Formats: sequence, C-alpha cells, structure tokens
Amino acid sequence: MPAFIHTSSDLLCDGVSVSAIAEAAGTPLYIYSAAAIRERFRDIDHAFGPYPHSIHYALKANSTLAIVRLIRDLGGAADANSGGEIEVALRAGFDPGDVVFTGVGKTAGELERAIDIGVKAINIESAGEVDRIDEIASGRGRRARIAVRINPDIDPQSHPHISTGLRTTKFGIGLDDARELCRDISRRAGLELVGLHVHVGSQIMSLEPLRRAVRMLVDLADELCRGGIRLDHLDVGGGLGISYNGAQAPEGTEYAAALLSLVQASGLRLVLEPGRVLVGPAGVLVGRVVDRKAQPGGKWFVILDAGMTELMRPALYGAFHRIEPVCPRSTPGIVCDIVGPVCETSDTLGTGRTMPLPSVGDLLAIFDAGAYGSVMASNYNRRPMAAEVLVDDGRWRIIRRRQRIDEMLACEEP
Ligand code: LLP
Repeated sequence: MPAFIHTSSDLLCDGVSVSAIAEAAGTPLYIYSAAAIRERFRDIDHAFGPYPHSIHYALKANSTLAIVRLIRDLGGAADANSGGEIEVALRAGFDPGDVVFTGVGKTAGELERAIDIGVKAINIESAGEVDRIDEIASGRGRRARIAVRINPDIDPQSHPHISTGLRTTKFGIGLDDARELCRDISRRAGLELVGLHVHVGSQIMSLEPLRRAVRMLVDLADELCRGGIRLDHLDVGGGLGISYNGAQAPEGTEYAAALLSLVQASGLRLVLEPGRVLVGPAGVLVGRVVDRKAQPGGKWFVILDAGMTELMRPALYGAFHRIEPVCPRSTPGIVCDIVGPVCETSDTLGTGRTMPLPSVGDLLAIFDAGAYGSVMASNYNRRPMAAEVLVDDGRWRIIRRRQRIDEMLACEEP
C-alpha cells in the first residue's frame, strides 16, 4: 500500500494528516512513513529467501538516527561511507561486525577507527589503501578484514553524476589489477581478504549492467578459490532504482532472481548495500507557498519555503520529483515552475508542472524525497536544517527538530 494517499481534502501519511503535521511542526519539513520503510526492507529481504544474505543499508541515503534504528530493528546491517557514518551506525546500535566501510578517500584516522572496532569489512579502493591498512593493522597486532572493490568498466545507464562503474570514474580497481592485488593481500600478515565488492551506480532502472558486473565478481571469486583463496562474501553494492516519474522500476523479486542466478553456485554470502530503494518512496518534503508571480508567457512561479537547501537533487542532477498540493484544489491547471527561496536560478524543485495555481500559504508535497534529501541539505543562505517527522503506527513524532540559528553558529567564534 502506498504510504501517501490523497483524500478529497488532504494528503495522508499512513492515515495521518500531512497538513496537521505541517501545521504543528512547521515547514519546510520531511515526513517519513515507518511502515513504508519496513515494507520495502521486507520485500527485498524475502526476495532472497533462505540464501545467505545481509542487507547493509547505505546510510548515505538517509542517516537520521531514528531511520537507521528502524532498519537495525528489522535485522538490517549498515554500509558506512565515512567515519561520521560509522559513528552514526554505532550510535544507532549496530555492532561493528555489522558495518561495511566503503568509499574513496578514507583518511588514516577513519581507517584506524574501523580497524580498532573491527568492522565486518573495509572495501578497499586502491593498492595504496591496502598498504596503509596493512601498516595500521600490523602495527596494532591485528588483522583487518578487507574486500576489494572492482571497477568493472560498465555503464549503469544512470545519470553520469551517480555512475560509478566506468573506468573513467574514481571508484574501484580494474579487474587485472584487482586479481593481482587479491593474491598480494592474501600473503599479508595484517590483512584478511574476506570479499569482493562492486557498485556500478545508483538509480539503476535496468538490471543488465548489474548482472554483468556481478558475473565478473563471481568469476574472479571462482578463480581465487581455485588458487586456494576462499572468500566469505560477495558485496554487490546498492543502486536499485525507484520510480520517480511512473516509469517501471525493477521489482525486488527480479533483482533477487538476477543476483541469485549468478551467485548461488558459489555458495558465498551476498552482501547488499541498498539505500534509495528502502527509504526513497517513504518520504516527502513539505513546503509552504510563500509567494507566487506570473512569468512572461503565461507560466507562473510558485515560491516555496523549501528549495535546493532542503532537496538538492533537482538542482544537482536535474532530477524529477513529483510535486502535488497537499490539499487539492479544483481550479483549472496552470503551468508552474516550483522554486525555492535561495539566491540561485538553479534553486528549482520542478519546472513546467501543471497544477491548480496554489495560493500563498498552501502546502505542496515533493514526493520520493526520503533518500538523498535531508542528508544532502545545506545551510546555504544561512538556512536552518529542516525538521523531520516519522509517522509510525498512526502516530507521528519529530525525529530531528528544526535547527536553530544559534546552533548553526555554534562552531564559530562568538
Ligand atoms: N554502496 C555504495 C558503494 C554507494 O556508493 C552507494 C551510493 C550505495 C551503496 C547506495 O546506493 P543506492 O541503493 O542508494 O542507489 N545523491 C545521489 C545518489 C548518490 C549515490 C551514491 N552512492 C542521488 O541523489 O541520486
């Protein structure tokens, strides 16, 4: 069941009035449905059936503590992309052994922390990183568990900014070098090679690129196994797309079937790193109309108290998010550009949208904003971070209150 449903007079999140929440909590405001996150997690989890698998939620998609805890309570694990995300994962109650540490450019301090607490795996991105981890771990008399991230040189057919599997991108290690590196790692005292990793990109709408990448992973694991190097898991990254515009996104069952058909024979545990698919459709951003004005040519600007500072995706990727009035109006549709209050022309949430012309004070909902929304927010124009609300079991609560100006200034000289 969709988390957000329109009635004739309101938008409901799991039966709770969005306008009532916005009235009480203020705008701009993120509202998430706990039920939707649970449903999406279970869909993916069940699709893999009894095959050994772990769902390492990619915290980068939304790392508000209550959301991370919700996923931990469902039996999820964590994918952290920075020292900060590792600390959030621990604060949310994950054991270090539930955390994979991914990402280009891990600092010495971050690596030391990951080794000291004993994360499940550090997904390495270069030969130099292997040396640094070996040195830190050996110096501490420890063995760090590492997985090698392959760059498969595959185009995921997504937006170039979020395509990570081409050899021209900064991510991973080419297959030939990775093969050599795995053999080298297996001979090092400070390192234990536990897995192979690949992540071709995000918002993937066709499974074929992922299939090709995972086939490379399976073949390499097989080759290593024949050479006496037995791994613990294959980490196939995240990337599963969602439908922002009504286009058909791959189902969890198709995703699982594609991966299982390739991995099953190896018997290796599957590590998944989904982010967007778990939380994206579970959230809306709600903004209030603060002004409107006619443009030359008949279009209108509708100016919200939410903009690129709250949801950067349209400005950064030209991303499309469905935008609808919270309380429907029955006046005829008119073409509107929905924009924010920030001093940039790129501060646009949606262009050329036909809707009844909203009045000042009306609320608009920007859909599918649960992933890469609040996490990518900024204080640009000294705008405070928006509040976030979780609707759970017919009740709502503030899981992150609106930032105050003095909090924004707290790190600065008085
Ligand atoms: N694993 C790794 C190594 C990743 O780099 C990512 C995302 C994920 C997992 C999770 O991917 P997902 O399942 O969420 O697609 N800000 C962009 C998305 C950036 C994704 C970065 N990496 C956006 O708003 O579309």
